[in-house]
Amino acid sequence: MDKIIIQGGIALSGTIEASGAKNAALPLLAAAILVDGPVVYHRIPHLRDISTMMTLLAWQGADVAYDDQHCLHVDTRNASKSEAPYELVKTMRASSLVLGPLLARFGHARVSLPGGCAIGARPIDMHLKGLEAMGATIEVEQGDIIARVDGKLQGAHIVFDQVTVTGTENLMMAAVLADGITILDNAAREPEIVNLAESLRALGAKINGDGNNRIIIEGVDRLHGGEMTTIADRIEAATYLAAGLITGGDVTVTGISPELLEAFLARVKESGCLVEYGDDFIRCKAQGRLKAVDIHTLPHPGFPTDLQAQFMALMTLADGTSVVKETIFENRFMHVQELARMGADIRLDGNTALVTGCERISAAPVMATDLRASASLVLAGLAADGETVISRVYHIDRGYERIEEKLSKLGARIKRHSASENWMKGVQSDV
Ligand code: EPU
Repeated sequence: MDKIIIQGGIALSGTIEASGAKNAALPLLAAAILVDGPVVYHRIPHLRDISTMMTLLAWQGADVAYDDQHCLHVDTRNASKSEAPYELVKTMRASSLVLGPLLARFGHARVSLPGGCAIGARPIDMHLKGLEAMGATIEVEQGDIIARVDGKLQGAHIVFDQVTVTGTENLMMAAVLADGITILDNAAREPEIVNLAESLRALGAKINGDGNNRIIIEGVDRLHGGEMTTIADRIEAATYLAAGLITGGDVTVTGISPELLEAFLARVKESGCLVEYGDDFIRCKAQGRLKAVDIHTLPHPGFPTDLQAQFMALMTLADGTSVVKETIFENRFMHVQELARMGADIRLDGNTALVTGCERISAAPVMATDLRASASLVLAGLAADGETVISRVYHIDRGYERIEEKLSKLGARIKRHSASENWMKGVQSDV
């Protein structure tokens, strides 16, 4: 298995371009199932989860082909399988995003139930309840969800008990071809939801209210082919901005609107850094040691849980103690023990971490446990004295496109080694 090796202590500076967002591209790709015509996708990132979704669509019978590096053509008109088998779903929880579209298109769907996950149990009960409210019957058999509907799904008024991003996307997609009007209340407001709604509207869907907590969808008979463009990856962009800050540097990310990162940028400013932006770029520059700042994760527009680990890495070197509260996932502190191995001073109390900044952290062999936890270890490695070796980096590859290349462009000394090269004798390979 690959490892990433970082020689820390170099201030990063320069400009890089944001990639398309994984969490926006995944629902856009699932939406192809609803479309009666070819779809051309722009700004699709090269990531493992994206390849998995492409494989799933191709397995269902869709034509899927890359045009150039980030432009993808998908045509599901010949797709005939309304299933998502375990072998594919087990590697990517977001495969459950095909449930709503498959049910809307075929009237039945068999999708393997995603198992637990490193960051929490992550059930999909609200997705299923919503589909039931739209007239589907749902059974679980041999680990698969089997959903059926007689005729078409029916519009319904659905109130989510808790804000769910993929739940909102799944039901929005199911409702697009349903009979009548669907109202989603307590809907997620993430920019990825707006990206999906705008894209579906361009293909003939009738959706209103996206970006607010009430979304209203009027079902239509068909969606026609067209184009979809993925928004910038706000989590990736913020991770690179944080890489500049944690090393005392100055990084600009282009191809992203600052509106996508308001909560993050507000905390960065509060910590004493310079933040500059225009319509299509964000620059963050460290101005001396960062001040400790508290964060509290919340659904959008609150501070994103997907940046909690990275912000915590920043706080390990800040002046003072910061309180990091995680309210979205029950087990999203897996990076804490690894950061502690690098000398960070972090005390955990339930869903709260008290991070007392130290003057320096030191390199250590650490292990990536999930996607964003891995990103926090990369940040810590960039700031640490000495050489940090991060193993199990397949987690990083799920969400960061060409991470070594992008960080190298900013001046980082980072390289990847494949375990098969036997690059370091005496280091145990992952099992
Ligand atoms: N939840 C339920 N029941 C449901 C659905 C959600 O109890 O039916 C709970 C979850 O367990 C969690 C909370 O509700 O405690 C919110 O989960 P949500 O459904 O919003 O998460 P998700 O849709 O599964 C997406 C992103 C995650 C991101 C979260 C929160 C995608 C593909 N994934 O997950 O991204 O953390 O929203 O913003 O969009 C990542 O990229 O690293 C990542 C984990």
